[in-house]
Amino acid sequence: MRMERSEMANQESRAGNVRETSHTPGKIEIRLPRPSDRLDQDAEHCSVRVSGEWQDIRFHDYDRIYRIPGLYEQLFHDILQCSSPDVIGKLLKEQLQERGFEPQSLRVLDLGAGNGLVGEQLHRLGPDLLVGVDIIPEAREAALRDRPGTYDSYHVADVTELSPALKAELTAARFNTLCCVAALGYADIPPAAFRAAFNLISDNGWIAFNIKDRFLSEDDTSGFAALIRRLREANVLELLTSERYQHRRNVNGEPLYYVALVGRKHRDIPEEFVR
Ligand SMILES: C[S@@+](CC[C@H](N)C(=O)[O-])C[C@H]1O[C@@H](n2cnc3c(N)ncnc32)[C@H](O)[C@@H]1O
Repeated sequence: MRMERSEMANQESRAGNVRETSHTPGKIEIRLPRPSDRLDQDAEHCSVRVSGEWQDIRFHDYDRIYRIPGLYEQLFHDILQCSSPDVIGKLLKEQLQERGFEPQSLRVLDLGAGNGLVGEQLHRLGPDLLVGVDIIPEAREAALRDRPGTYDSYHVADVTELSPALKAELTAARFNTLCCVAALGYADIPPAAFRAAFNLISDNGWIAFNIKDRFLSEDDTSGFAALIRRLREANVLELLTSERYQHRRNVNGEPLYYVALVGRKHRDIPEEFVR
C-alpha cells in the first residue's frame, strides 16, 4: 500500500526535483526527492533547511543527520515510519518471557547504537548493563545529548580494531546480549565487525538483530546470507524466532522489508566464517 500523500509529502514542487513536506512549527523542514528515480537505500537523500539554508543530506550521512537534534527521529520514524527498534525490542522481550529469563539480568552490547533509539527500548527493560558502540563520534554525542542516562557507557570504536584497553573493558563487561538494529550491510557494519561483537557475548547469550531481506537471499553480496546460514548449520547460533516485517518506507513511500532475528549464541564465530 502506498503512503498517503498527507503522511509523507503533501505539496509537490513543480520546479526542481524535490517534494516539500508540510511544515509544522517547531519541526525541521524536510524535502524528499520526487519519486522519479529508483534509489537504493544507500543512495536515498533529502533536503533539510538548516539556519535558513537548504542542505542536501544523504540518509547514510549519519554524522550530518545526528548533528541536527531531532532530524533522525523526524525523518526515519515520523515520515518514513521506521519500526525496527520497536520490533526488535518486542521480539527480544517475548523470547525472554517465554523462557522465563529476567530482563534485569541482561548485560547488553548495542552495536551501531546511533543516537540511542534502540537503547531507549532496552533501557525500559531495566537491564543490568547497557553499553553502546558506534563507529562515529556524532552518534555518541547525539545519544548523550538526546537520551542522557540511557547507556551505562557509550564507546566510539571499530570493534574489529579495539584498543587493548577497550577490548579489556568490553571483555570484563561479560555481555550476555547483543543487539544490532538497522546497521548491518550496505556500507555499515560488515560481517567481520558482527563477528567481533558476537564474540564479546558469553555462550548462551541472546543475539537480537535485523537485516534487509535481500541480504538473506540467494543473490546476497553483503556476505550475511552465507554467514547466517553457516552460523545456524554449525549451531553457533540457535535461531529462536524470526519475523519479516516492514522496516520503514523508502522515499517513494514503498515498503522496505527486513527480517528480525532473535537467537542464542552457543559458541564464538570462528575466523574462517567471515573470510
Ligand atoms: C541506521 S543507523 C541505526 C542506529 C540505531 N541502531 C537505530 O536503530 O536507531 C546505523 C548506525 O550504524 C553505525 N555503524 C556503521 N558502521 C558501523 C561499524 N562498523 N561499527 C559500529 N557502528 C557502525 C552508523 O554510524 C549508524 O549510527
